[in-house]
Amino acid sequence: MTDNIKVLISEEQVNERIIELAEQISKDYEGKSVHLVCILKGSVFFCCDLAKRISLPVTMDFMSVSSYGDEKVSSGRVKIVKDLDESIQDKEVIIIEDIIDSGRTLAYLNELLASRSPASLTICTLLDKPERRVTDVDVKYVGFEIPDEFVVGYGLDYQQKYRNLPFVGVV
Ligand code: IMP
Ligand code: MG
Repeated sequence: MTDNIKVLISEEQVNERIIELAEQISKDYEGKSVHLVCILKGSVFFCCDLAKRISLPVTMDFMSVSSYGDEKVSSGRVKIVKDLDESIQDKEVIIIEDIIDSGRTLAYLNELLASRSPASLTICTLLDKPERRVTDVDVKYVGFEIPDEFVVGYGLDYQQKYRNLPFVGVV
């Protein structure tokens, strides 16, 4: 099943980087609690592993948006499939995303969530493809910058497959 997938970031590298990101977040938000907004479905693995490593009180909520359908190219449209369950007002919110490509999804989400009066709002992404950016987004925490290749694994899919791979690979 994984024969045609080349490892780009190994399981060990992902784990080590998540520990670093969690330490950074724990330091930056010292004395506070953080509210993680996990963007389904791609960010689930990342969000859970990160949450376990953060040494502050953590709450979590989930949101599902669709921008790609089952294609490899962005449609440019973002639709909310599932909104948050709870209010984010006065919370220290961190949006947890799997990957930033064009930046359209996060630019849209950032604006939407900012309008709901959180105490603060930052973005944390596991992967970033800076070459592909068409919309400017201010991302505070980046796991890895990667080249312009379509990746799968550790939550990321191609046509809903490969999410469960423990590493990030290229098809
Ligand atoms: P953006 O709006 O173009 O930044 O797209 C971000 C979304 O596209 C991510 O949340 C992913 O769901 C999807 N995406 C972008 N690049 C990849 C990739 O290389 N593999 C899998 N999904 C991707
Ligand atoms: Mg996604």
